[in-house]
Amino acid sequence: MTDAFQATDEFAAQFDSLLAWRRDVRRFKTEPLAPGLLEELIDRACLAPSVGNAQPWRFVSVENPDLRHVVAESFEIENAAAAKLYKDEQARLYSELKLAGLKEAPVHLAVFSDTDTLLGRGLGRQTMPETLVYSTVCAIHTLWLAARTRGVGVGWVSILDPKVITRTLNVPANWQFVGYLCLGYPIENHDDPELVRPGWQERIDRSKVLLRR
Ligand SMILES: Cc1cc2nc3c(=O)[nH]c(=O)nc-3n(C[C@H](O)[C@H](O)[C@H](O)COP(=O)(O)O)c2cc1C
Repeated sequence: MTDAFQATDEFAAQFDSLLAWRRDVRRFKTEPLAPGLLEELIDRACLAPSVGNAQPWRFVSVENPDLRHVVAESFEIENAAAAKLYKDEQARLYSELKLAGLKEAPVHLAVFSDTDTLLGRGLGRQTMPETLVYSTVCAIHTLWLAARTRGVGVGWVSILDPKVITRTLNVPANWQFVGYLCLGYPIENHDDPELVRPGWQERIDRSKVLLRR
């Protein structure tokens, strides 16, 4: 056993700053990630909590330009369909939002959850099988924070057809698509979300999210 982790006040302040500056990034430099950095981030993501210690997260580094093209195409189709759901001022605002950095990001990472994994022997997920996907989301968030500590931005793209992604990447049938991540060095840094700045959606405060019973 190694020494227990003890956060200093300075570390706690830096961690708070990491949370405040994490951001979903859509504007990337095309510069590749430093060698070995993607693997380092995956290793950190694998430290995430998971139901029954099932570690259901599965990552696909999408490197083939033809496959990336299919993903970008799926985004264009689904984004155009989503845009039609809005009217008037909201439609104008939506059309101006940048909702993915698929063309610029040097790294594309598709994240899946193994819905059939034997790891964990079913512990903790009998009544809530969806906890496997929750575990995978924990891994994504862990990667997101680890990336930011290394100056790497992450953008989560969900405006995609999961069937297209699953088919295109030819993954095992029991892998459920969870999210598509763009990674790269950001061209700008912000402490407020991209969707707050143009007035799409403000942040809410604690009074709206905490009930006491
Ligand atoms: C499950 C999930 C799906 C998301 N999908 C998209 C997406 O398709 N496009 C996008 O631009 N941002 C996407 N985001 C990022 C959110 O827009 C962003 O987290 C939110 O606006 C708050 O901004 P922040 O992450 O910078 O704090 C997604 C985030 C999550 C957690």
